[in-house]
Amino acid sequence: MSANAQPSLPRIRVLATGGTIAGAQTGDSSRGYQAAAFSIDALIAAVPQLATLARLDVEQVAAIGSQDIDEATWFKLAARTQAALDSPEIAGVVITHGTDTMEETAFFLNLVVHSAKPIVLVGAMRPATAISADGPMNLYNAVAVAAHPDMHGRGVLVVANDEIHFAREVAKTNTTQVGTFRATHRGLAGVVNAGRLHLYAPPVRRHTHTSEFSLAGLTALPRVDIVYAHAGMGRELIDAAVHAGARGLVIAGVGDGNLNAAALAAAAAAARNGVAVVRASRTGGGVVERNIEIDDDRLGLLAADELNPQKARVLLQLGLTRTDDPRVLQEFFFAY
Ligand code: SIN
Repeated sequence: MSANAQPSLPRIRVLATGGTIAGAQTGDSSRGYQAAAFSIDALIAAVPQLATLARLDVEQVAAIGSQDIDEATWFKLAARTQAALDSPEIAGVVITHGTDTMEETAFFLNLVVHSAKPIVLVGAMRPATAISADGPMNLYNAVAVAAHPDMHGRGVLVVANDEIHFAREVAKTNTTQVGTFRATHRGLAGVVNAGRLHLYAPPVRRHTHTSEFSLAGLTALPRVDIVYAHAGMGRELIDAAVHAGARGLVIAGVGDGNLNAAALAAAAAAARNGVAVVRASRTGGGVVERNIEIDDDRLGLLAADELNPQKARVLLQLGLTRTDDPRVLQEFFFAY
């Protein structure tokens, strides 16, 4: 537990997974660094002001860069988050995580953890040893958000660079800059300035305590692959994914989730063989609607609505744990 915190303060569980927020540079003049070099105890000790916000208890769930976050880590993180929030003692959960796949973990938890209490993912773009490291303030703000009574019922959130993002809306958009997180469609959940919150609109879709998805009884998720479309694309990668046993495919299509004739023929053949094929967009923004240039009804394809390919994959994996019916799967994309 954090030293010197007042007993009247809310108790927040911090689950640590690693990432750049826990990273150390490999040399004074080097841009290289090793992710997940510092323990969560060390990160918290570096921000003594946290003791004014909350009583923290911590658990090191993993110590990896987020490129190595996998399904087993997701299941463990979901279980540890749910267990913490089911405890009446715990007011909220903060998860430290690398930024590279944070949006996927955040959206996954947004769909499978059932609680109205705050769940906040936080990371950093600069390692803990860097000049002007962004991790300490991000961590301080994340705890402030998780401990705030107004944050109930808002689903899983991502806090970085003084911004609060909804899990469904946020995407990493820049390789190095601290303002990497953007919410293209619906904007910010709010801002947080040195622990002071300013909240904007509530989330628009089902999440957490209103989600129908559950990991109960599951040990793995159906295989869903993402295939990236491009000019002159062939059908081979789609066929290979089906051959490898994918039950679902997300196409990161051009423009409005489009595919050329060769790839579309492969996608339609996959759908005819019972593979759920979702058309998303590689553009980074905008709605993929049904039946615009592609006849989804005739070909048995699904549209990702507003979800980017990596989040469409998460929803399709969970959707396929409930049904193979394309009509029901499509409804999930309009509801979540
Ligand atoms: C990672 O995602 O683990 C590395 C990058 C980062 O945390 O910003």
